[in-house]
Amino acid sequence: MSETIQTLLQESRSFPPSADFVAQANQSDPGVYQQANADYLAFWEGWARQLDWIEPWHTVLDWSGAPFAKWFVGGKLNACHNCLDRHVANGLGGKRAIVWEGEPGDERTLTYAQLLEEVARLANALKALGVGKGDRVCVYLPMVPELAMTMLACARIGATHSVVFGGFSAESLYDRINDAGAKAVVTADGGWRRGGIVPLKKAVDDALAMGCPTVEKVLVLNRTGDAGTVTNGIATPAYDRGGWVDGRDVRWEDLVPNQSADCPCEPMDSEDLLYILYTSGSTGKPKGIVHTTGGYLTGVYATAQWVFDYKPDDVFWCTADCGWVTGHSYVVYGPLANATTVVMYEGAPDTPDKDRFWRLIEKHRITILYTAPTAIRAFMKWGTEYPDRCDLSSLRLLGSVGEPINPEAWMWYQEHIGRFRCPIVDTWWQTETGAIMISPLPGITHTKPGSATRAFPGIRATIFNDQGEDVSTEHMERVDRGEATHAVGGYLVITQPWPSMLRGIYGDPERFRQVYWSRFPGTYFTGDGAKLDEDGCFWLLGRVDDIMLVAGHNISTMEVESALVDHPAVAEAAVIGKQHELKGQAIAAFVIVRAGFVASEALVKELKDHVAKKIGPIARPDDVIITAELPKTRSGKIMRRLLRDVAEGRALGDTTTLADAAVVGALKDKYEHTEG
Ligand code: PRX
Repeated sequence: MSETIQTLLQESRSFPPSADFVAQANQSDPGVYQQANADYLAFWEGWARQLDWIEPWHTVLDWSGAPFAKWFVGGKLNACHNCLDRHVANGLGGKRAIVWEGEPGDERTLTYAQLLEEVARLANALKALGVGKGDRVCVYLPMVPELAMTMLACARIGATHSVVFGGFSAESLYDRINDAGAKAVVTADGGWRRGGIVPLKKAVDDALAMGCPTVEKVLVLNRTGDAGTVTNGIATPAYDRGGWVDGRDVRWEDLVPNQSADCPCEPMDSEDLLYILYTSGSTGKPKGIVHTTGGYLTGVYATAQWVFDYKPDDVFWCTADCGWVTGHSYVVYGPLANATTVVMYEGAPDTPDKDRFWRLIEKHRITILYTAPTAIRAFMKWGTEYPDRCDLSSLRLLGSVGEPINPEAWMWYQEHIGRFRCPIVDTWWQTETGAIMISPLPGITHTKPGSATRAFPGIRATIFNDQGEDVSTEHMERVDRGEATHAVGGYLVITQPWPSMLRGIYGDPERFRQVYWSRFPGTYFTGDGAKLDEDGCFWLLGRVDDIMLVAGHNISTMEVESALVDHPAVAEAAVIGKQHELKGQAIAAFVIVRAGFVASEALVKELKDHVAKKIGPIARPDDVIITAELPKTRSGKIMRRLLRDVAEGRALGDTTTLADAAVVGALKDKYEHTEG
């Protein structure tokens, strides 16, 4: 950590927006921060008024004390209406809503009118399956237009969607289906990834076989279906082979196209659930983050409009999968609420070649690209020849999200992708915050490589020390007096409610209180460390808890440890995130095996596979080190800092509180021996 801080502090480059960009920006008045913060309720109310409401709210915010907030109380609206119907009613029916490309190269474009029609049919299909207002629907689909459609169709009829990323395993799916009590699952036979098929329906079958008593129906899209088998002249698509349960499983093509395209929007209370999205918790059990309708939509609508600076002709590509919050807020709800054209892409960035992203930009004349540092670092490694051979002149704005972006990657992005013409918005936020919280406004902010800069207007972010004291106010006062010479650091907190804030953890109000609101009572604790520099800019330093950021995805050390100890060979496991050139962090696991098991390469592989099977391929450890002992304090706590030192090959830190200092030395030898 200290090394990171040092590097960041030496970073003094600053890039003002160009005069041209300022002249056309949606927001270019630096006074907006002060205005918004002088009356943040009026500020957010102004945004909410730009949406269509069936009934107005009577109270902007009900905050009778942390942690339970209600926004736009008494108001009624429908999120799907605000993303589709109102644009069609406003004459934008012919505008492109979704431009999609599958990994094999198939393409599909849907105008707002076409998308509305498809969503209405699908909404009626869900109703025909018995799904109604308040029911939970688990969505396990590849990045195809039907994924966005399913989210919107649920919103239309007032059902709560719970999208599960297609890279999660059957067991993870099982946990999420049962936690949400999903009534239906929407899936596909599979999706394309790196030229292969990810077998989604198979995972659903396996999950349901483990016992998901609430699931009544499974709607199955035929995405990859080859001709399948032909028996007695009747073709069976590939996705029907094995596992098909008549009465439970329904083919998309048998049900959806026959439905009426007329499906009225369900009037939803501002505080009715829009969705649940699971994120890793440091205790290992995933947390079902709950978002409601009015505040969430207001937050994503506002932030998308100012941070991404949408204009009517923009073509916006957020590369995230809808299985993550970024896909919820900035593939579906934020851009569509703004009537923007969004690009969706199904597959990998290196299929068929490492220029796939740049080919997509060239072909679809994409103007705004929003991606993750882990992807940018991979592009850097692959080399500039790939972007250089493509026409990227349509780009005018670049975004980054998901983890801290190192200044080197930021500069590369600016030079080789933005070609010094595009501002970069490094956006900090979380599944829990629903919308962007800290980010440049591209028409105002002087950006700095590696800094997410300032809180969005109407958001109050600050830094607390261990004692819960706000260290930023005093810091800024010292800066004003010319006394501050360096940045202050501590815990990033949000001190005032915001419309798109999570409303809780599904079914577990106590955990909600404990995880986010107990460290500093009355204040939202983000779990991130941050620094504030002399210009009042935030520099995010990563998690301070046991959550790892692996390729921008949250995985808890506990989650991986429980998966490991679930294996019969494992007696004890300690997992840490070690620095990784491309992924930001990679998973390293230190494992003690039970008597009777022999440490071998085969066992190491088996343990890696086991974790991938339990959680999903994204959680597969890079390293599994089998050891006889783990470094523990005298009180028995595993010293993860030392394990990190070992895994990252650094000189050993202070070992004086160790029960047996020799353990670490032995581990280090072993690690260096195993590596590579
Ligand atoms: O640690 C922060 C990191 O990602 C965490 C949130 O992860 P998740 O809920 O999966 O949402 C990711 C997409 C919004 C944060 O607590 N993080 C996210 N964006 C940034 C970031 N860290 C530094 N800079 C960012 N721009």
